[in-house]
Amino acid sequence: MGISTKPAESSQTGASKENKLPDRSLAAGFPSGFLWGTAASAYQIEGAVNEDGRGPSIWDRYAHIPGKIADRSNADVANDSYHLYKDDVQLMKALGAKAYRFSIAWPRVFPEGTGTPNPKGLDFYNRLLDELLANGIEPFATMYHWDLPQTLQDRVGGWMSRDTATAFGEYAGYVAARLSDRVKHFFTINECSRLVDLGYGAEVDAPGLTLAQPALNQVRHHVALGHGLAVQAIRAHGRAGTKVGPAENIVICVPAIETPANIRAAEIATRELNAGYLTVMLEGKYTDAFLAYAGKDAPKYTAEDLAVISSPIDFVGLNVYMPHHYVVAADDAHGFALTPFPASFPHMESSWLKIGPEAMYWAPRHVAKLWDVKSIYITENGTSATDQPAADGHVDDVDRIMYLRNYLTQLQRATSEGVPVLGYFLWSLMDNFEWSDGFEKRFGLYRVDFKTQRRTPKLSASFYRETIARNAVV
Ligand code: BGC
Repeated sequence: MGISTKPAESSQTGASKENKLPDRSLAAGFPSGFLWGTAASAYQIEGAVNEDGRGPSIWDRYAHIPGKIADRSNADVANDSYHLYKDDVQLMKALGAKAYRFSIAWPRVFPEGTGTPNPKGLDFYNRLLDELLANGIEPFATMYHWDLPQTLQDRVGGWMSRDTATAFGEYAGYVAARLSDRVKHFFTINECSRLVDLGYGAEVDAPGLTLAQPALNQVRHHVALGHGLAVQAIRAHGRAGTKVGPAENIVICVPAIETPANIRAAEIATRELNAGYLTVMLEGKYTDAFLAYAGKDAPKYTAEDLAVISSPIDFVGLNVYMPHHYVVAADDAHGFALTPFPASFPHMESSWLKIGPEAMYWAPRHVAKLWDVKSIYITENGTSATDQPAADGHVDDVDRIMYLRNYLTQLQRATSEGVPVLGYFLWSLMDNFEWSDGFEKRFGLYRVDFKTQRRTPKLSASFYRETIARNAVV
């Protein structure tokens, strides 16, 4: 494959390299030691779906069903990172990134979901970790980024059964025992809410089900339980000092106008609209409003389940893409009112990706304030863009730079006010398999030609490299 790791220079970034930094940008920078990284996930980049004993996942099955993926693609090969991981580590290094968030494919480690482990599957992650550490990049590993072993779906209905939560805990403990000599930070589940709502409720993600409310609420509970069991297993089997937390796409509630009353309303809304995941993880109970709303469809659970779900965590990971709601104060029992997005609300290349940089300020601020969380990571943020390559292959993705600059400015606002965000993982290192959008939507700092596997830095790679070098948005 051809590979070029040096981020492209525009005349502007080339010139700025020569200039002395204005004091202004230094003064307004991120805290020293702020951790800059990039993120990706196993199924979206690894390929090699039939190699070294990996079992099938629900995404393998789903992607091969005609009509499910927009461009009729699948991730059998994707970025072939299973073989090209050393080159991909060099892409990170060229950015000056100091951390990498990746996910472990459960069906590589336990091809049948449970039972006999497959040492060759784990070996891939051993090789990856060694390569990252040799290049000064700290690994942050996600245990589950949606690639459930197909056998668990077939045998017990996947997350419809609490057996899957149990199996997930066992798998997480097994992995922590073997990787925590090098991985100091584990995320349990990536985006509980999306995997439930789009996978089991809306037929958009694997396994492609459309369950009715009672069953969907039970799935929701099992996923939260799986998170808690994994937290406990990682603590029990990981080395002393191993840290663990969720990576959740919370419903981000932004005050429509920053008045004290609206800010309070947005806080209440944040607690209620995240009741099924982050709130129960941090409070150990479902809120009254959540239970009242679910009524007879509420999940079945025990007090012991709630204790497991709320096992103490070390940090909260937040995936931030867009505001989910603008909120104004209301006099009714809830204390908040949600304003719908007007049809003219701007969005990026993916029509769901509404542009709301202030989400990046309010998400961590609400979490820190509501639950007194002391350590937060932004585990994903980024955008799709049209990314039309010029004749010589370079991509001037100024729209992605606009998006990132504005979101990072809001993050800088948060850290400068003392909101305890310790690091930021940009989604994504390189274009990859964007789930049911296939390869049509590109989120990478590096453009990938999926025919040749050539990776080419976009202009946004230069922007990110400059940001990392200065530890400030410029
Ligand atoms: C997911 C990623 C995905 C990204 C962009 C997040 O919901 O964790 O896997 O590629 O959003 O859609």
